[in-house]
Amino acid sequence: MPSREKTIAIIGQGYVGLPLAMAAVEAGWTVFGVENSPTKYALIASGKSPVEDVKDQLIAGALKSGKYKISDTSISVAEASIVVICVPTPLDDNRAPDISLLESAVISIAPHVQSGTLVISESTSYPGTVRDVVKPLIEKHKKSADISVDIAVAPERVNPGDAIYHQKNTPRLVGGLDAASTKRAVDFYSSICDQVVQVSSPEVAETAKLLENTFRLVNIALVNQLAQLCADQDINVHEVIEAAATKPYGYMKFTPSVGVGGHCIPVDPMYLSWWAENNGKSASIIDTSDAINVGMPLYISSRVRQLITGASKRVLIMGVAYKPGVKDVRETPATALRDDLIAHGCEVAWIDPLVDEWDGSKPVDTQWLCDVVVVATAQPGLPVAEFSKRGVPILDCTGTFKDLPHVTRI
Ligand SMILES: NC(=O)c1ccc[n+]([C@@H]2O[C@H](COP(=O)([O-])OP(=O)(O)OC[C@H]3O[C@@H](n4cnc5c(N)ncnc54)[C@H](O)[C@@H]3O)[C@@H](O)[C@H]2O)c1
Repeated sequence: MPSREKTIAIIGQGYVGLPLAMAAVEAGWTVFGVENSPTKYALIASGKSPVEDVKDQLIAGALKSGKYKISDTSISVAEASIVVICVPTPLDDNRAPDISLLESAVISIAPHVQSGTLVISESTSYPGTVRDVVKPLIEKHKKSADISVDIAVAPERVNPGDAIYHQKNTPRLVGGLDAASTKRAVDFYSSICDQVVQVSSPEVAETAKLLENTFRLVNIALVNQLAQLCADQDINVHEVIEAAATKPYGYMKFTPSVGVGGHCIPVDPMYLSWWAENNGKSASIIDTSDAINVGMPLYISSRVRQLITGASKRVLIMGVAYKPGVKDVRETPATALRDDLIAHGCEVAWIDPLVDEWDGSKPVDTQWLCDVVVVATAQPGLPVAEFSKRGVPILDCTGTFKDLPHVTRI
């Protein structure tokens, strides 16, 4: 029986929770991975990984060693000294924060926390979530009033598909509700990360995480707007960007795209914007950037349709995951592109070597006859050259295929 001191429970075994579980096992912790999706639970229990960055063998080995146990109930929290919450924090239909999954995860663990349990939230949320939402819910639902719990926030910075940066070599921000919580969280992350950065409060850590992703959203919007302005005046935006990037300081290169996708960049900045509004202020730069990026697939749709010359309007989208190297289609801008093309009378099919199914549809093969190809995501292994050889016009939103004939870049 492993000691409670060396046991952690991780709530949510997805893109964030599963790599964390594997890193903790490697660092000598016994880990309960708590997952409430029956499909994901069954997959992991059979030694298969639902995320690209964790190999099947790693899960199978961890399960076999007894150091990793997949669980479909929060009861295992009672056996852990540390509980890390890694559940989704999406937007609702009004693009406002939806923290209901975080709230229900906290409510599900609270009756099982013991005195001295450290609860850490890795889920991205607006400043004040841990202090004003997580803590009161634990206080309300814990088994008895004399159970005292430490609480901290440690936002995750994982970049799925990144071959260089991972749990160990990505510095980790940690902020606790008090000195004891902070110290315990710092000690835990020091066991799995090379560098832990202690900040003075959970709010600093929460806001820093939102700043990181807002920085990307705003810069992507800037370059996406510039791409449209340059195309209008027949200036090659890619040459402009390369020219600007020769400046050795004070500039960071961003490139135009079909838009932003995934669980983070289109979502997290809206938490900051909502928080500002909730405090009677406006984060107008975020709202403007969001509008530019949300409008990008519609702009691309118009560019695609300009390439169609005949009556037939068959469009093949290549790469539908939200970024290269992953099979994740959450918030992918390819969805808005597809829907707008269909709304304009196009017949749309897709190919993505990493995606088996997208919104209930299956990919076509390279024999699918099309009038134009649009490369939305530079997924490895895309058959772009084959279509270029056939003389099919190709709109490349990724800037990757500039040397092939019949390719226009945005
Ligand atoms: N994916 C990323 O690249 C990334 C990077 C940094 C931060 N984050 C943040 O991390 C958090 C988690 O994101 P993710 O990408 O890992 O999501 P995910 O959907 O891949 O995984 C979350 C998992 O939690 C499970 N879950 C939900 N509620 C649960 C509960 N009560 N009990 C047990 N399991 C539960 C879901 O079934 C899912 O498998 C979010 O706040 C996200 O913003 C994500």
